[in-house]
Amino acid sequence: MIYITRKEHFNAAHKLYNSNFSYEKNLELYGTCSNENWHGHNYDLIVTVKGNINSETGMFINLKTLSDFIKLEILEKVDHKNLNLDVPFLEGKVTTTENVVIEFWKILDKKLRLLNDVNCQLHCIKLYETPRNFVEYYGEK
Ligand code: NI
Repeated sequence: MIYITRKEHFNAAHKLYNSNFSYEKNLELYGTCSNENWHGHNYDLIVTVKGNINSETGMFINLKTLSDFIKLEILEKVDHKNLNLDVPFLEGKVTTTENVVIEFWKILDKKLRLLNDVNCQLHCIKLYETPRNFVEYYGEK
């Protein structure tokens, strides 16, 4: 088993706000991230897949294929967008890095399964909201 990683980048605006809570409660929970006039992040998205190397090709997934998936399924939908307003798969969700990475997982996992190649599985997605804050997700365990 070998692990291959592709790193991508996008910029997006959002705010952390749960409309079921009062303004004060949101401020207490999310601090300045609840600012109603939005703020932005430079996100780094790091996607790792795993598989066994095909002895003829010397690889198990073409990195171009993986990169194209990420661009088409994720980046085109979130880059330079407002995560709260512009992204259908995040509709109604609090756009914490945790929630965002789980939605990214669902999309990429489904796409990779459609490859019909049991030899290539999603292993981990890391999402950096800032250079110091990131989450990592390995799917439901
Ligand atoms: Ni934020």
